[in-house]
This record gives sequence, structure tokens and C-alpha cells, in this order.
Amino acid sequence: MKKRNVVAYFVFICCKKLLAVSPPAVRLLLLKLRLMLTGKVYTTDREEFLKVVPTHRTASARWWQRQSCWQAKVATPERYNRLAPYIETAFAPQLSKDFTVCDLACASGDFSFLIADRVKQVEAFDLSADMIGMAKETAAKMGIKNVDFRQAAAERLQLPADRYDAFMMLGLLTYIDIPNAAAIVKNVGRSMKPQAKLIVKDSITHNTSAQYVYVKSYVAYYRTEKEYLQLFEGNGFRLLHSTYLEARKGSIAAIFEKA
Ligand SMILES: C[S@@+](CC[C@H](N)C(=O)[O-])C[C@H]1O[C@@H](n2cnc3c(N)ncnc32)[C@H](O)[C@@H]1O
Repeated sequence: MKKRNVVAYFVFICCKKLLAVSPPAVRLLLLKLRLMLTGKVYTTDREEFLKVVPTHRTASARWWQRQSCWQAKVATPERYNRLAPYIETAFAPQLSKDFTVCDLACASGDFSFLIADRVKQVEAFDLSADMIGMAKETAAKMGIKNVDFRQAAAERLQLPADRYDAFMMLGLLTYIDIPNAAAIVKNVGRSMKPQAKLIVKDSITHNTSAQYVYVKSYVAYYRTEKEYLQLFEGNGFRLLHSTYLEARKGSIAAIFEKA
């Protein structure tokens, strides 16, 4: 290992230890310092996070809007390869040719395309207009006509009540902070027919409390597994099945039924 890497690792460990034992005011100072020097903040304290990253509410939206392409197959093929088999085995068998399905936070449409030929219609939404543009181009190239892509922010989207026979929300809640997440889950539930199935996938933490992450304007919330599942179970869903998508258990996928 290079000497510089050893020093950086040593500094990182020292900061981590100091952050764990310091009083709040010192922690805040250390976090600000770390943000200034590295552009990165990790904390389990939401209030602290809001103080250090004051623009966090819009930062996440801006970060995603700047991404011109987010194709799971291309950008992170291993991620696609982990999730696609779960969709195929746990979700797709419950779909039917007369189904209308919603894909909220569809990005460039990889998972909408995966299920398109098993259902009547997919309605797919994403915050990023560029990604929606790319998804439309891909659909045209592939000759897929039953996926309707639209740009929309999940927080402001008024989904029609009782419309969807099944629902996909993959990798969205990782980017939605506490106040908005429950409202989105309720909105999703309202838009689904009774007993309809919802598939979700997100990053989680195995710390004792949620981890707030800011890396060079990328904002994410890694909830604990309990908090994450509670978000659905406390808002009208019943857990049918869940699985970790990777060996280190940082990523969870689950199937819920509308109660
Ligand atoms: C990690 S990607 C997941 C994409 C896709 N569902 C998948 O699993 O491959 C997160 C997606 O959420 C979208 N997104 C982030 N915040 C959003 C919001 N507030 N409303 C709608 N979409 C959002 C991003 O534009 C991005 O396409």
C-alpha cells in the first residue's frame, strides 16, 4: 500500500474516532472541516447534517437532474445483475397481461423494459428530464410501445387513486429525506388496487441509526432495515418477502402487498 494511502487511512480513522466521542459543537466543527477538505460528510445525526449541508433538500434533486444517463445495465452492470433476477423470480410471476404498472424513479428505463412484454401498460416517471429523454429513445429503438415515460418529481406527483395493478419503486427512497418519504409511500399506496404488489429496492445501513451521506453534492439517506420496512408497514403495506442484494447487506429489495 502507498505511504500516502496509509496516511489518508490513518487521518480517516482518527476523524471517525474523534467524531464518535466529541461533544456536539466539536462534532459540527469537525464535520464542517471534513466537508471543506474532502467534500464528504457522513453522519447519523439528521440535525447535524442539516446544519452542515444546508442545501441538502435541493442538492439531491440537482445532482440527479445533472445526470444525463443512469442506465443500470451500463453504469453499474453488477447492480443490474443483482436486481434483475429478483424482479424475474419474485415480482414478474405476479404480473399479468392486463396489468397497468407504475415504475417510479425509472431512470433510463431498464427495469420498465424488463417487465414491459408481460403487462398491458407501464407508466414510468423520473425526476431527470434527460434520463426520460434517453428512455424514450431506447424504447423507440427497441420498438417498445407500451411504456409511457414522463418527467416528474415524486414529491409533487399526484398519482391517480386505485389505478395500478403492480408498482415498482427501485432506488428512490435512498434519495428522499424523512418528511417526504412517508407522504410518497402513502401516495403510492393510494394509487394501487387492493392486494396489488409493490417491489422496492434501496440502500440501507446496519448502524443503529440512519446514515446521512453527502459526497460532492450527492445526497443519500441510508435507513436502518427496521426504519425502512416500517416506512411501508406503517403506511398500509404488508411485507411478503425481502432479501439482501449483496454480500455486505448494504442493499435490500422487498415485495409488499397493499393491505
Ligand atoms: C439509483 S437511480 C435508480 C433508477 C432505477 N429505478 C433503477 O433501479 O435502476 C435513482 C433514480 O431516482 C431518480 N430520482 C431521484 N430523486 C427523485 C425524485 N425526487 N423524484 C423522482 N425521481 C427521483 C433519479 O433521477 C434516478 O433516476
